[in-house]
Amino acid sequence: MRVLVTPDYRTLSRTAAELLIKALHAKSNLRLGLPTGRTPLGMYEELVKKHQEEHLDFSKLMTFNLDEYLGLPSDHPKSYHTYMKQHFFEQVNISPTNIHIPDGSPGIDADRESERYEKAIHDAGGLDLLVVGIGANGHIAFNEPGSAFDSRTRAVDLAPETIANATQYFGSDRVPARAITMGIGTMLEARRILLLAAGTSKADAVDRALRGPVSPDVPASALQLHPRVIVILDEAANHHRVDC
Ligand code: F6R
Repeated sequence: MRVLVTPDYRTLSRTAAELLIKALHAKSNLRLGLPTGRTPLGMYEELVKKHQEEHLDFSKLMTFNLDEYLGLPSDHPKSYHTYMKQHFFEQVNISPTNIHIPDGSPGIDADRESERYEKAIHDAGGLDLLVVGIGANGHIAFNEPGSAFDSRTRAVDLAPETIANATQYFGSDRVPARAITMGIGTMLEARRILLLAAGTSKADAVDRALRGPVSPDVPASALQLHPRVIVILDEAANHHRVDC
């Protein structure tokens, strides 16, 4: 596992975007796994800038998002479909047919959708590169503590702290209690994994994921089992600071 500590969030975002661009130059039809959330926003901004200013070509890129809330129509303002459109897809020349996000629409058969999603990843030849964030409770994608390391794409209950954290984005709307997520087993099959973490609120989870025992109690610790992981942190996420 290679750990790069960058001085600040801006540098973290640039470093992540550069790594991704290098992978895209090496393989224009890259199969790329993507997260949502606060952490990758700067990376998406950098990628959009490269497209607008230097015509970086995304036309052959194929993407697979990590997760989606269950019970939200895909055009709901807080769905991950909407997030990805706003922050990335609508601002670059990716082909809509190359975009994959689990469908969490109301009434969807979540088991069938999960199976379909797994198959789509498989049929595409697997993921070349997977970008992930980490929750303060150690989750990766929506694999909450206790998730099996061989888990596949499936419907899951969100942990209370994950729901509480999301209320800042949902305002007065109710945060969905369930989601469809790639499994840890699915994620570990990616050829390369890039983990991004920023801010002091992540320092404890990062420490436990990278240096603690490998255990389903800390889903991100599964990354220690993968041979090709790069971790990009900012300074704040690098130390577990204990207030005295
Ligand atoms: C998002 C996802 C989550 C986030 C994690 C960190 O697609 O799968 O695991 O990566 O909750 O979220 P932020 O970046 O908002 O701190």
